[in-house]
Amino acid sequence: MAKQVILTGIRANNDLHIGNYMGAMLPMIDMATKRAGEYQVNLFVPDLHSFTTPIDHHKLQDAIMNNLRVFVAAGLPIDSPDVHIYRQSYVSAHSELTVILDGFTGFGEMSRMTQFKDKAKKLHDDLQEYVDGVDVSKSNKNVSVGLFNYPVLMASDILLYGTTYVPVGDDQTQHIEFARDIAERMNRLFGELFVVPKSVKEQHTFFGKDQGLRIKDLVDPTKKMSKSDGSGRGVIFLNDTPEITRKKIMSATTDSIGRVGYNTDQPGISNLLELLSLFSSRSLAEVRKEFEGQTQYGLLKEAVADSVANFLADFQANLTKVNDKALKDKLETSEKAMNAIANRTLLKVQQAVGLRPKD
Ligand code: TRP
Repeated sequence: MAKQVILTGIRANNDLHIGNYMGAMLPMIDMATKRAGEYQVNLFVPDLHSFTTPIDHHKLQDAIMNNLRVFVAAGLPIDSPDVHIYRQSYVSAHSELTVILDGFTGFGEMSRMTQFKDKAKKLHDDLQEYVDGVDVSKSNKNVSVGLFNYPVLMASDILLYGTTYVPVGDDQTQHIEFARDIAERMNRLFGELFVVPKSVKEQHTFFGKDQGLRIKDLVDPTKKMSKSDGSGRGVIFLNDTPEITRKKIMSATTDSIGRVGYNTDQPGISNLLELLSLFSSRSLAEVRKEFEGQTQYGLLKEAVADSVANFLADFQANLTKVNDKALKDKLETSEKAMNAIANRTLLKVQQAVGLRPKD
C-alpha cells in the first residue's frame, strides 16, 4: 500500500525571525525527519498563494529561493527520498484543479472564512490610510478574487496528493475543514475521487496539540514575537548581526520587581529565561536554578545575548554553506514526481466531471 501523505506549505517570507525558527520551522523539519520512512512528506512553497495580497513581484523569485535556503540551513532533510520539496506553480495541476473546484464551491461558504474577512478588512484599512495620507495612485490594495479564492487553491494543494495529515496553525482550521467538505462533496457527486483529510481534531491528536514554542516579543512580552508593529525592535531576525542582536536583547522590556522570577507577573524575564534555555540547549529548570532570585537583570540579559548571538553565528555560517545545486536538483526531482502524482488525480477529476473521456 502507498504511504499516507503528510503535507504542508512553506510560506515565502524574507523576514524570518527566531520566533518563526523555534515555533514553526524546527517543528516542521523535525516532523519531516521523524515521519519520513513511514510516511510520504510533501513540503511545498505556495508561491501562487503569495500574491493573494499585494507584494513586490520583483522580489518574489529571490524570496522563494532564500526562504528555501534558510530551511535547508536549519536542517530540512533534502536527502530523504520520502520528503518532497517543490514549488506549487511548477505543478500546474494545482491551478487546473482549483478552477474545476471553483464550480462546486459556494460564494457564501468562501465569504464566511474568517481569514478572508480579517485580511480583507486589513487591506481596506490600509487603503483608507493611503486615501487619507499621500499616495493613492500607486496602491493596488484591492481585495482580490485571489484572496477570496485562497481556500479552494489550498484544498487543491491538499487533495491532489491524497493527503491524510496537514500540520498547520490554528488560523488554518477553517481552510482544512473546507478541504474536507469539498472532498466529501465531490465524492458524493462523482464517487470516490479524493482521500478526505483527517479532521482538525484528529490532526491535533496525530501531531500533538502544541508543537512549537511561543517565543514572546522583546518589546511587548505579553505578545508572541512579531514584526507587526513595524519597528522590528522586539524581534530578532535570522539575519541580524551579533551587535544588533545584543542591543535588542539588552534593551528588552523587563519589569520593576527587581528579582529574577519565572511567573506571569514577569513576562519579560520569563521570556528571557525561556530564550536562554532554548538557545543554550539547557533545561528550563537548570536555567531557572541558576538565575532565579538574582536582584539584577543584567547578567541574565548578557547570558541570553551570548547564547542567541552564538546560535545566529552558527546558523548564518550554515546558510553560506548551503549547496544551491543540491537544492535545485531536489526541487527538480520532486517537481517531476509530484507532477506525475498530481496529474493522475487531475485526470480522474477531469473524467468524472466530463472534461475527458472515461477510459
Ligand atoms: N495557508 C497556509 C498558511 O498560511 C499555507 C498553505 C497553502 C498550506 N496551501 C496549503 C498549508 C496547503 C497546508 C496545506 O499557513
